[in-house]
Amino acid sequence: MKNQYLYAIFAACLMTFVFSGGALAAGENLADYHAGMNGCESCHANEEPSADGAYEFEQCQSCHGSLAEMDDNHKPHEGMLMCADCHAVHDVNVGDKPTCEACHDDGRIAK
Ligand code: HEC
Ligand code: HEC
Ligand code: HEC
Ligand code: HEC
Repeated sequence: MKNQYLYAIFAACLMTFVFSGGALAAGENLADYHAGMNGCESCHANEEPSADGAYEFEQCQSCHGSLAEMDDNHKPHEGMLMCADCHAVHDVNVGDKPTCEACHDDGRIAK
């Protein structure tokens, strides 16, 4: 039941993406890019950012999956970080890659 629900959301996300004609254009702000799907409500409830970021984190995961389901840059951070800790969506553009050195000082890089 839960999986079917998630699949329906995922399918809806993909359809929205396809029919918005949204190609990922480097240079576009990452929040604005997402707002092209369902407006600010793609991530925020009632046009208001939540105080702790938990609501927004849920929205990221409803389309992209959890950290544990992603690649090796993401997996180790399950239960430790939210997406926005690395992807500051209002401050970066599509195509920008977060770095590791913001938090790890041992020279590790994204795989
Ligand atoms: C991709 C998801 C996403 C979309 C779409 C999005 N936001 Fe956000 N927004 C976030 C996240 C995550 C934060 C908290 C972390 C941050 O500041 O980057 C945030 C923070 C904010 C803040 C607080 C900023 C601050 O500096 O404290 C405001 C205000 C805001 N968003 C307004 C909007 C408006 C208005 C829109 C639509 C034009 C929008 N957001 C679209 C994810 C999104
Ligand atoms: C520890 C920091 C970190 C966190 C937390 C994080 N990301 Fe990332 N993310 C990265 C890095 C680094 C890359 C670029 C990897 C590369 O070089 O391809 C990336 C790339 C991506 C991409 C592009 C993938 C691709 O194949 O090009 C998506 C989508 C993404 N992240 C979504 C998310 C979502 C959704 C979350 C939360 C569930 C999240 N990220 C949390 C660091 C992070
Ligand atoms: C309504 C569904 C939806 C939500 C909610 C959503 N995304 Fe996305 N996001 C997409 C789609 C679709 C793409 C384009 C295809 C892809 O790269 O996966 C995308 C692309 C991305 C990319 C890749 C951009 C690049 O440079 O290649 C990142 C990073 C990302 N999203 C992070 C986030 C974060 C962080 C949140 C929550 C704050 C979030 N997304 C919320 C659907 C969503
Ligand atoms: C926003 C801060 C932040 C960023 C950016 C970040 N990490 Fe982490 N990372 C953490 C935290 C917090 C932990 C959990 C505490 C710990 O084990 O050190 C962690 C743990 C890890 C671990 C498991 C423990 C260890 O130290 O080996 C790996 C592997 C890892 N991160 C890889 C990366 C990679 C690769 C990048 C760049 C793509 C990255 N991290 C970017 C905060 C971050």
